[in-house]
Amino acid sequence: LDKKLKSATALACANIALIKYWGKRDPILNLPAVGSISLTLDALQTKTRVIYNPELNQDLLTINNSEATDAQTKRVQKFLDIVRAKYGFREYATVISDNNFPTGAGLASSASAFAALSMAATCAAGQKMTKKDLSLLSRRGSGSAARSIYGGIVEMQTGEDPKGEKDYAIQLATPDYWGLRVLILITSAEEKKIGSTEAMNLSAETSPYYQQWVISAKSDLHEMKQAIQDKDFEKLGELSEFSALKMHALPLTSRPSVIYWNSGTLDLIEEVRILRQQGIPAYFTMDAGPQVKVITLSEYAGSLMNHFSHKKGIKRCIESKLGADVYLTGDDS
Ligand code: DP6
Repeated sequence: LDKKLKSATALACANIALIKYWGKRDPILNLPAVGSISLTLDALQTKTRVIYNPELNQDLLTINNSEATDAQTKRVQKFLDIVRAKYGFREYATVISDNNFPTGAGLASSASAFAALSMAATCAAGQKMTKKDLSLLSRRGSGSAARSIYGGIVEMQTGEDPKGEKDYAIQLATPDYWGLRVLILITSAEEKKIGSTEAMNLSAETSPYYQQWVISAKSDLHEMKQAIQDKDFEKLGELSEFSALKMHALPLTSRPSVIYWNSGTLDLIEEVRILRQQGIPAYFTMDAGPQVKVITLSEYAGSLMNHFSHKKGIKRCIESKLGADVYLTGDDS
């Protein structure tokens, strides 16, 4: 590579929300309607290299060594336009992004993608950003990405001001605070039918439960923070299932309705509840897709992995501990 080209590479982990984000109070600045709390997932990582090149006349994106789709490229171009406008430069970039998790497993994560892109794009442009700045910036790419700037347990805060100055994430606990584990159970490798951005906007416009969702989020966040502080695993699990089901009630009751689950998803929900009756600490959560994530404690992760990997209807299981903050990999020197 030409030495004059400015480049940087960053690595970020995906995350799974225990208290869910769903709905925006401003779609342009991407300000969430509710706060959220997540676990950063060490097993799901995105590594992204940004190379600015004065000879390019548009941004180029490859994901896992293949050319990205038009929709993916447009979303990244729009994001880089924000970075260029903020720092007043014009160069387009080649963006090379790689996930360490299987593609086409319905896990393509905008969270790890935009967290890594935020750090790589600003650093390659010679900007030194604080974690707070990175969180504010990644939020513009994807709401959940604002949380992937930090490792461990993370809270996305939300304020009321129209500029969103308080809409950034903070770390509630470091990865070593608590031996939490997440098992990612893949029930389907199909692309999701409707993305979260579109589905949450549809929910806000049409679900009769939307207002109540926004109003009731505050106490969920408050209770979850208390559970984390007390290391009360049952409380954390119970609240996670509650928030996940409450969130899914919105797409389910939208017009037209959006059903993200398949029959495997429902089987696993039942399975997790049966395991619990047998005294095993396991709770489920799901995002805008059919995969089930099981939250458990480190002592139980091995036997649960074994249990689920033999289940019919599960294509693949991935075990994750809590991951770290976004960082520069130093691959560019
Ligand atoms: C169900 O962060 O993908 O995963 O801000 O429009 O990019 P945009 O939405 P996105 O939504 C995530 C929704 C969720 C819940 C969560 O991660 O909190």
